[in-house]
Amino acid sequence: MKIKTTFVTLLATAALVPTFAIAQTNGKLKVGLMLPYTGTFASLGNAIENGFKLYVAEQGGKIAGREVEFVKVDDESDPSKATDNVNKLVKRDNVDVLIGSVHSGVAMAMAKVAKDSGTLLIVPNAGADAVTGPMCATNIYRSSFSNWQPGYAMGEVMAKKGIKKVATITWKYAAGDESVKGFKEAFEKGGGTVVKELSLPFPNVEFQALLTDIAASKPDAVFTFFAGGGAVKFVKDYAAAGLNKTIPLYGSGFLTDGNLEAQGADAEGIFTALHYADSLNVAKDKSFRLAYAKTYKLQPDVYAVQGYDAAQILGIGLNAVKGDVSKKAEFAKAVEAAKIDSPRGVFTLSKAHNPVQDFYLRKVVGKENKYEGIASKGLTDPARGCKM
Ligand code: PHB
Repeated sequence: MKIKTTFVTLLATAALVPTFAIAQTNGKLKVGLMLPYTGTFASLGNAIENGFKLYVAEQGGKIAGREVEFVKVDDESDPSKATDNVNKLVKRDNVDVLIGSVHSGVAMAMAKVAKDSGTLLIVPNAGADAVTGPMCATNIYRSSFSNWQPGYAMGEVMAKKGIKKVATITWKYAAGDESVKGFKEAFEKGGGTVVKELSLPFPNVEFQALLTDIAASKPDAVFTFFAGGGAVKFVKDYAAAGLNKTIPLYGSGFLTDGNLEAQGADAEGIFTALHYADSLNVAKDKSFRLAYAKTYKLQPDVYAVQGYDAAQILGIGLNAVKGDVSKKAEFAKAVEAAKIDSPRGVFTLSKAHNPVQDFYLRKVVGKENKYEGIASKGLTDPARGCKM
């Protein structure tokens, strides 16, 4: 009897297949948001979600005519839980698209599952070079940056300034390592030397011994990658140790983006490089900032922009395939040809699906990451190892 029921169920399921195919273009669009909502990157995850939802709201709650439904997972920026988390979204919740994450290690697990399952993935922050390197795929996109990019841009700037000896300090994981690697590549090409490379495990914030080490080795300047809550603590500790008076601090722009309220006067004068800045003279940025502030009673930051642009990429691709996520090649063709009208300024995607974009030099003045000029124009990640 039981076997018979199962057989009947199977038949019924088979009969449903054509209906499912229609549902792919007409039913609700299930968006899986896998982001950190707790821990040192919690505010980054929230800003990405806000930006993404602002774009969806501007489209009347629909993308390519499909009403958007969200399924959320707090990934805690924990790579050890990432594969389970992403599999839940893909296998249990059957999402149409994955959006995530902030942490490079978590994003790598997502990219692996996306590559194996063919699920569409748009990375709205994590810079892991490999996502648009060896892991590159027709169904994998990034609306943010590669870790190499802001590091490289800052290396060019610091070498051009005539700075000779630099110490680096960061978290020991892909984002820190690859930011420093990108920095070193450009800085050494420009004649500089990295005299000391310091690190501590993510997300630790016991900086004291490392700051003592920096003070003792007296470099001309320091280059750093930190972000979120950890970056707030680092900037405060750097100033408390008096180092901001003697050894100028430079970084990829995550150090100060979204953090200035919390860092206060300790951040004053810090130079960073990033694909976004305050006071950009970009029409899209002006309307975006007004809409964001009105909706959330908050100022946007780079993470909000990347969330908004992840939704824009989804919109461009899905409009081209009339909402059918299974048409991956056509989706890719549309996105690859697009000029994305971002608050950061118009950008395109490389063949490996990483933004080709300008990096700005910014200086902290009061509560602003003030635009100081172009650090690196139309900077393209080398996409080492991508075969597509
Ligand atoms: C990363 O882990 O790739 C990462 C995290 C936070 C940032 C930037 C990069 O602000």
